[in-house]
Amino acid sequence: MIRYVLFSQNSLIMKKFYITTAIDYANGKPHIGHAYEKVLADVISRIHRLLGEDVHFLTGLDEHGQKVQQTAEKNGMTPQELCNATAVDFRSMCRELSVLYDDYVRTTQPRHKDVVSNILEKLFAQGEIYKAEYSGYYSTVTEQFLQEKDKVDGVWPKETFGDVVEMSESNYFFRLAKHKDWLIDHINSHPDFIFPQFRAKQVLEFLADDINDLCISRPKNRLSWGISLPFDDQYVTYVWFDALINYISVVGYDTKDFEKYWPVDYHTIGKDILVPAHAVYWPIMLHALDLPMPKTLLVHGWWTCSGTKMSKSLGNVINPMEYAKIYGSDPVRYFLIREMKVGQDSDFSHDLFASRYDNDLGNDLGNLVSRILNMVSRYCDGVCPEYIQDQGHDGGMIALWEATRDRFIDQCCGLQFHLALDDLFIFIRATNKYIETMAPWKLAKSSASADKNALLATLAIAAECVRIAALALYPIIPNMSAQIFYLFGISPKTLRWEAELQFGNSLAGNRFAEGAILFPRRDP
Ligand code: ME8
Ligand code: MG
Repeated sequence: MIRYVLFSQNSLIMKKFYITTAIDYANGKPHIGHAYEKVLADVISRIHRLLGEDVHFLTGLDEHGQKVQQTAEKNGMTPQELCNATAVDFRSMCRELSVLYDDYVRTTQPRHKDVVSNILEKLFAQGEIYKAEYSGYYSTVTEQFLQEKDKVDGVWPKETFGDVVEMSESNYFFRLAKHKDWLIDHINSHPDFIFPQFRAKQVLEFLADDINDLCISRPKNRLSWGISLPFDDQYVTYVWFDALINYISVVGYDTKDFEKYWPVDYHTIGKDILVPAHAVYWPIMLHALDLPMPKTLLVHGWWTCSGTKMSKSLGNVINPMEYAKIYGSDPVRYFLIREMKVGQDSDFSHDLFASRYDNDLGNDLGNLVSRILNMVSRYCDGVCPEYIQDQGHDGGMIALWEATRDRFIDQCCGLQFHLALDDLFIFIRATNKYIETMAPWKLAKSSASADKNALLATLAIAAECVRIAALALYPIIPNMSAQIFYLFGISPKTLRWEAELQFGNSLAGNRFAEGAILFPRRDP
């Protein structure tokens, strides 16, 4: 497969763009929630590359903590063996879905652990971390001491917290409470800090009550799988305190490179890990370290399956890899990005997938490409004709593109992908309609030179519409877009939206392939 290169020659003036995803728990298998989040971050990365920015896309694996230790024991493995196996699964999920990250962090890597140690040491020296005796109720599932406000109808829900046990132990605590007012102020004065904005309300509600300092240690006799506290080797670090630091550890925290990346543009996360981890612990950790805040916490919703939450016990976990194996990664990416309004929940059903595949990809886009290839082959000996602007044969397609283009880019930058794709497929369907109206097969029967001109113009214009649409779709269906470029005789090069999402004549003289089926019919 031809590779289309996406970086610029002039890196000096490039705006940097740093995006992360959550790092996945190493005790589970990849599912559609993981797949969606990584594809979403990949689409955003590709968009910013096409806009000429210097993108750094980080994802990875969250390897410490009780659940990993327990799952490993259950499977008769060491925790590290389990993590190594899971890392293979998650990385191949990324590969199979064409998710092109720049770096993959694993929290057991020395490059990460060393920074966690340094940060703990620093915060301890600053007095932000202290030791205290604590008794309370502890959740074995979420690995945290619970509070009254975690109760629902007077009890800690078993499905969320599992067995809750009373416990008393000495631990180390990170001072959260004293930074609360600062955090409230930061959220109120930075409307872009949380996307979508309505989720900020949830954070402010959490902060309306008193908050406790965060217990950041676990005694080794209870949990050994973690990063030792540098100032007390009887303890390991609480997994969330360790995991959040991945966002700065592997991009050169405390080195001169760090400024190139930080502050991050987007932390892509699911709604379940916004409060308190990303919207309370993390900003306060950064604040205590005197670092700038993330620009935006990009909070996506949940995938459900036929209306219910996906869970292993319900047995309704959809494996996107099964779909990718049958249909390729692009239809899966298209479906995920087209169906979910970023921030809301969305439902995955086979019927919906099939309908997007058949209609949008097969009928609208795939047929359009094969029609054009067939006609250029039949009527123009396979060479794309030139289109002459002032002949007035474009049937409004140029104006339609001009009306679509800026809105499309704006919607992409504003994370409104469902709207952007809606608009783009209106344009694609209009191109099909345009071909039907111009009826090149009729024009081809005429010997009049005006008809001959109209025929050539129609094919040139329709092909140009497809080139533009394929470039616009590149972040979402990169393989199919590259395939279309190849079929249209476009040689591999750096792709840029600004210069190339313009209606033009760059295809004139290109030798097109004779035909191709991009999205084969489904076997029902
Ligand atoms: O939470 N739909 O890891 P994780 C959409 N290790 N997104 C979903 C989902 C679903 N059905 N299920 C899970 C963790 N996710 C921590 C993160 S970050 C420093 C540490 C999302 O494997 C979930 O919201 O449980 C999270 O963003 C990501 O998948 C990883 O979840
Ligand atoms: Mg989870």
